[in-house]
Amino acid sequence: MAQYGMEKSPPLRGEVRVQRSKNAVLPMMACAVLTREVLELTDVPRLTDVDGMAALLGGIGVQVSRARGGMRLCGENLDGCRAEGIYAERMRASVLLLGPLLVRLGRARLSFPGGCAIGSRPIDLHLKGLSAMGARFALQEGCVEARTDGLHGAVIYLDVPSVGATENLLMAATLAKGVTVIDNAAKEPEIADLARLLRRMGAKISGIGQSRLTVEGVPALHGARFTPMPDRIEAGTLMLCAAATRGDVLLRGAQADTLGAVIAKMRECGAQVTAESAGLRVRAERLQGVDVETLAYPGFPTDLQAPMMALLCRAEGTSILTEHIFENRFLQVPQLRKMGASIAVRGRSAVVRGVESLHGARVSATDLRAGAALVLAGLTAEGHTTVTEISHIERGYVDLAGALRALGAPIVRVE
Ligand code: UD1
Repeated sequence: MAQYGMEKSPPLRGEVRVQRSKNAVLPMMACAVLTREVLELTDVPRLTDVDGMAALLGGIGVQVSRARGGMRLCGENLDGCRAEGIYAERMRASVLLLGPLLVRLGRARLSFPGGCAIGSRPIDLHLKGLSAMGARFALQEGCVEARTDGLHGAVIYLDVPSVGATENLLMAATLAKGVTVIDNAAKEPEIADLARLLRRMGAKISGIGQSRLTVEGVPALHGARFTPMPDRIEAGTLMLCAAATRGDVLLRGAQADTLGAVIAKMRECGAQVTAESAGLRVRAERLQGVDVETLAYPGFPTDLQAPMMALLCRAEGTSILTEHIFENRFLQVPQLRKMGASIAVRGRSAVVRGVESLHGARVSATDLRAGAALVLAGLTAEGHTTVTEISHIERGYVDLAGALRALGAPIVRVE
């Protein structure tokens, strides 16, 4: 099993290029099911979640190949409707095949999706929306069996603005008969990016980036070439690492307009964040505690709550972090405590009292973003830190250790 080993880092310095967004690429790959023509995605990050999605698509007859850093997908010979097995069970994003398979083939069978162990993560909103469009579902042991005689447009209200449900319904609606309205749609930038790809494929979508999306179904979509947006979560993680080590780093490709809440909170902490033509520069000397509440976009992203907590462990004063999106997203807390952090959890809130120093320890990456948080903490801790179970981290970061090493951090990946 691979792990990261690290010593306390000097202030990070230099430049690093931000990878393309995992959360944008995964639904875009599902779009290969919507067309018989070739979909070409450029600059696709090498992540285990991307490999998992490629394997699922391969299993239903989509031809997937990688070349020059990009990915070519062709759904001409789609011959299966089953997204089952280990990849589907491990990966939450496997549910994104449900809408596309239903609208293209009229049936789908899917293992209940997995992903990080950060809460119950139901898929009721996906099923409710697709039912309103004419799908029927049978839930069996560990899987969902779906059928339709043809999806049609519908007016759908999402009880909560779910990212995945918005994406699933959006993809299904592009080929459904008539007009679909998705109200209280999630507004995450990855959804807007997906909608732009779908439009390039010939879909008729209006309201991109807003909480009401309107889609007029078309008879067929065609192929397209598209470059997914930069990964705002990877960018945010590296920005927080730069600040936590009191460094000076330029994140090439980071987009200020997708990181508004993160930039605001980092500035409130005392970091300097400036937009330059190439990306975002972060500098920090002293850091003070702040209160943070995770919310749907444009609120503070739940995916950066754990790394932010790790930074606040050594900020001056007390911080309160409140998690509103997932009910079990403080998995990093016991691990951070092993390193000397002072954190008390009260329901959905965690009270972090800043300490003078953390100390190295052997800690486990319990999920993707908690893992990133432990790496950040390890960079600021006295002595040696080992982060185990980094397969979770590698689901979402192409080479976190490599990026940090390029900025001067003494971190290595060992098998
Ligand atoms: C996506 C992101 C993930 C991020 C999350 C929130 C991808 C591949 N993953 O996950 O990194 O942390 O958005 O920004 O893009 N919910 C329901 N019923 C449903 C669906 C969701 O109750 O049918 C609830 C969830 O339990 C959760 C909330 O809605 O409490 C948000 O979940 P959702 O936005 O769907 O997250 P994902 O799409 O799974």
